[in-house]
Amino acid sequence: MTFSIVVLPGDGIGPDVTAAAVRVLEAVGRRSGHAFKVESHAIGGAALATGSGPLPDNTRDACLAADAVFLGAVGDPAWDAEPPTRRPEAGLLALRKAMGVYANLRPARVYRALAEATPLKPSIAAGVDMVIVRELTGGLYFGQPREEQSDAAFNTMRYDRREVERIARHAFTIARTRQKRVLSVDKANVLETSRLWRRVVTEMAPAYPDVTLEHMYVDAAAMALVRDPASIDVLLTENLFGDILSDEAGAICGSLGLLPSASLGDGAGLFEPVHGSAPTIAGRDIANPIGAIASMAMLLREGLGLLEEGNSVDAAIERALADGARTVDIADDPGQAIGTKAMTDAVLAALSPEP
Ligand code: IPM
Ligand code: MG
Repeated sequence: MTFSIVVLPGDGIGPDVTAAAVRVLEAVGRRSGHAFKVESHAIGGAALATGSGPLPDNTRDACLAADAVFLGAVGDPAWDAEPPTRRPEAGLLALRKAMGVYANLRPARVYRALAEATPLKPSIAAGVDMVIVRELTGGLYFGQPREEQSDAAFNTMRYDRREVERIARHAFTIARTRQKRVLSVDKANVLETSRLWRRVVTEMAPAYPDVTLEHMYVDAAAMALVRDPASIDVLLTENLFGDILSDEAGAICGSLGLLPSASLGDGAGLFEPVHGSAPTIAGRDIANPIGAIASMAMLLREGLGLLEEGNSVDAAIERALADGARTVDIADDPGQAIGTKAMTDAVLAALSPEP
């Protein structure tokens, strides 16, 4: 089969890790007999620099027509003084909204070979294997009205039942394929949106009698993540809480550079590493490409339904790490660290041989 894939390298290390992920996609193409037609477009600061907005029309149209979209990273301090609508991040937020990808899945696990990379006691991080299910197109990120005035500013946090139901459905469904535990994270002791969230999720639970549902306030969840992260299976939460807790989960796993994500809706999915654009190390062949390559694995599996191909990429990552390949962010001895390209070579070498 032929699949059309749009890649959006974006800013900072985005192009570095996108190149790595595309090399892996091409290698999978040679092995699988599937053809991947890859088309690259501008987004974020890279688009602003050409004089257009952060999400040019042709980029949006190409994404809406694609079978799957891969994004590297957006964010560039050059645009820090601009209003929110003229920042690189606005391009990504507009794309998530345009594609309707409301369900952001962020798996976070401690690779066996990287048990020592965690900043926690290794005994606490051992066996961590969770999925954060983050609502992605609602909440404070998108609520209206919003405004920055000279001496005051406000945002609106809003959720409706339909938005909570559809994201909770993802969490319950994923839990069924795992340890069957959902931890729903909110701030129902303070926020009305969280009270609605908790009520709707609780009402849905009886439809999934095999899944255990627990609720936790977000401050307590931030603590549970570092005290006992291995106890968490599926963590369901709203947009901003999920943004914050997924960075925390990345640190627990040893590096934010390891974490992949899939954003799903009713049409094509959007796949991106969880890390940002890290402008200070851009273009220096330093960035860890594993989050990006693992996002490509999710694109194959969750995006295109190519289960075997996606799993083969994940297995290759695991083998490369077991063989000792380390970028500087996860190396015990920085002197032994390899670069982005060499790490990608190590993953490619660990893929099954070409037919
Ligand atoms: C993420 C990022 C984005 C977000 C930014 C770049 C808009 O931090 O994907 O976690 O806040 O969602
Ligand atoms: Mg984030």
